[in-house]
Amino acid sequence: MTGPVVLITGGASGIGAATARRFRRRGGSVVIADRDTIRGTAVAEEVGGLFVATDVGEPADNTRAVEATFDTFGRLDDVVLNAGVPGRCGLHDFTVEDYRDTMRTNLDGVVYGLHACLPRMRRQGHGSIVVLASIAGLGGSPDLFYATGKHALVGLVRSAVLSPAAHGIRINALCPGLVDTPALAEHRRALRAHGLRLADPGAIAAAVETVLTDPGTGGVWTVQDGQPAAPVPPPEVRLASG
Ligand SMILES: NC(=O)c1ccc[n+]([C@@H]2O[C@H](COP(=O)([O-])OP(=O)(O)OC[C@H]3O[C@@H](n4cnc5c(N)ncnc54)[C@H](O)[C@@H]3O)[C@@H](O)[C@H]2O)c1
Repeated sequence: MTGPVVLITGGASGIGAATARRFRRRGGSVVIADRDTIRGTAVAEEVGGLFVATDVGEPADNTRAVEATFDTFGRLDDVVLNAGVPGRCGLHDFTVEDYRDTMRTNLDGVVYGLHACLPRMRRQGHGSIVVLASIAGLGGSPDLFYATGKHALVGLVRSAVLSPAAHGIRINALCPGLVDTPALAEHRRALRAHGLRLADPGAIAAAVETVLTDPGTGGVWTVQDGQPAAPVPPPEVRLASG
C-alpha cells in the first residue's frame, strides 16, 4: 500500500464520493464514514475501500470511524470532514429541532471529527485535514443557519491550528461555490436559469487534493466552476496594542 489512507465523512454522495473516486485512481485507500448505509457501502465497494456507518453528530461514531481506519489500514494520512446538510429552517420558520438538526451535522460533526482524529494523527506524527465549508461561510446567504454553521467552520479552522491539539497536523478549510450534487438537485434548473454556474463534483475533489497536499495550515480556500482552488487572504484585523 503506497498511496495515502483517507477518511471521508459524507463520502456516500456528491463531493465526498467524487473525492473517494479520485483517491482510488491515485492509489489511495479510502474509508467512507456516512449515515447512508446503502450508498456508502456501494461507494466503498466501488473504490475497494471500507464503509463505517457514521452519524457525525454522534461523538462516538467519529471515534469508531477513526479506530476502524487504523485497525484496517494501520494509519490515517488524510481526513476530509465533508458531511453536511442544507439548513432545515430560517428565522421565519424557526424550530429548535430543525436548527439543532442543521448544526449537529454541519458544525458539531466537524468538531467531533477533529476531536476524534487529531490525537491519533499526532501520535503517528503526520496528517492533513480538509474541512468542507462553503462560499456561504464567507458571505451572507438566504440559507441562514447553513451560512452560520459554515462561517463557524472558517473560524474553527483558523483557530484550531493555534491549539496544541493540532501541533504537526495541517488543517485547512475549502469553500466551494455551487456544486452539481444531489444536495442541489431540486434547485439545479432554477440556479442555472439565474445564470449561476455549478461545478462538477470531480473538480471539487481535485481542489480537496490541492488543499490536502498544500504545505500550509490554517488556510481558507475557495473553488468555483472554471476557477482553480485559491487561498482567501485572512482579514486584516489586529488587537489594539501599545
Ligand atoms: N453542493 C454544493 O453546492 C456545495 C457548495 C458548498 C459546500 N458544500 C458542502 O460540501 C459538503 C458535501 O456536500 P454535497 O453537495 O456533496 O452533498 P450531498 O448531499 O451530495 O452529500 C452529503 C453526504 O453527507 C451525508 N451526511 C449528511 N448528514 C450526515 C451525518 N449527520 N452523518 C454522516 N453523514 C451525513 C449524506 O448522507 C451524504 O452522503 C457539505 O458539507 C456541503 O455543505 C456543498
